[in-house]
Amino acid sequence: MPTPSTVILGTGSFAPSRIMTNDDLSRIVDTSDEWIRTRTGIRERRIAGPSEKASDLGVEAARRALTDAGLTPADIDLLVVATFTPDQPLPSCASLLQKKLGIPTRSACFDVNAACTGFLYALDVASAMIASGRYRRALVVGTEKLSEVVDWEDRTTCVLFGDGAGAAVIGASEEPDRGLLGCLLGCDGSSADLLCIPGGPRDPASPPGARSDRLQMKGREIFKLAVRCMDESARDILEQQHVRADQISLVIPHQANQRIIDAIAEYLELPADRFFVNVDRFGNTSAASIPIALDEARRAGRIKRGDLVLLVAFGAGLTYGSALLRW
Ligand code: ACO
Repeated sequence: MPTPSTVILGTGSFAPSRIMTNDDLSRIVDTSDEWIRTRTGIRERRIAGPSEKASDLGVEAARRALTDAGLTPADIDLLVVATFTPDQPLPSCASLLQKKLGIPTRSACFDVNAACTGFLYALDVASAMIASGRYRRALVVGTEKLSEVVDWEDRTTCVLFGDGAGAAVIGASEEPDRGLLGCLLGCDGSSADLLCIPGGPRDPASPPGARSDRLQMKGREIFKLAVRCMDESARDILEQQHVRADQISLVIPHQANQRIIDAIAEYLELPADRFFVNVDRFGNTSAASIPIALDEARRAGRIKRGDLVLLVAFGAGLTYGSALLRW
């Protein structure tokens, strides 16, 4: 196994206080708690208030991660924000977050858009920049206000998503046996139309009533690709790092659907309790999903020093990726 060059120094997460249950949703669209629970495992999700933007959710998660790491915003010289629901098209969510947190101006701050794989893309980029020796401490944030891009008249999508944020502080690894062992990223642009916000004028090929400024998804196709891509990415990183699946202490998968997580557990021949799951309480929070789950898993005592932790995700694009950590 190679010596890791970077390590996660602290984690944090934040979710808006408003809880929207499946029963609440059944009063908005033609759905039921039973349908949503059995098809997805989701029971409730958090919904941000009108003035609560992605950067506001990210600030709270970032502050908690900094506190956990025993650091302050002044210690950060790199901020990478994974989101596809920034407060506004320009400037980046990272610029707004930098100001709100008070991160020094001599810092690199930018957004990454890789949808639900965004946190892994941001983690890999930040880690490589630290490994270069040119940056010391990075704040990697995944934050989404998906309630703003969901079509609340489309029952096939609006029941799946929620708002939230998660963050991690990354630094150079000073111990040879701890840190990020490897990260693999991928993308299949030929599947881009399966999950998208087309934007612009309405596409004549899209279904009647579909809003081009809102999230559109071909759920069944995405389901199959999600299972295949996450399974392959997990296997690839295990092979690259010469680790067997049964050596993994905890898998933190992107939280999109309990059935997708169950299918991956079956393919990897791992018991269900080796997977951290909170999709029931948050739904799919896209780029925030893995860092929220990582933070909750840590705080719940599910990750111990020396554990091998596998992160694996897929998202619109179709992006996918995995990361292996020795905690
Ligand atoms: N409530 C009640 N009925 C519904 C709902 C709903 N919310 N949504 C769809 N239905 C109906 C459909 O209309 C259909 O009815 P019909 O048989 O009369 O035509 C029936 O339920 C079955 O619909 P399917 O789409 O076939 O249901 P499926 O079992 O495939 O589950 C789901 C749908 C949950 C969306 C599943 O396909 C899935 O999870 N796909 C992956 C989605 C995903 O993970 N997306 C996130 C991507 S990550 C990112 O980057 C944002």
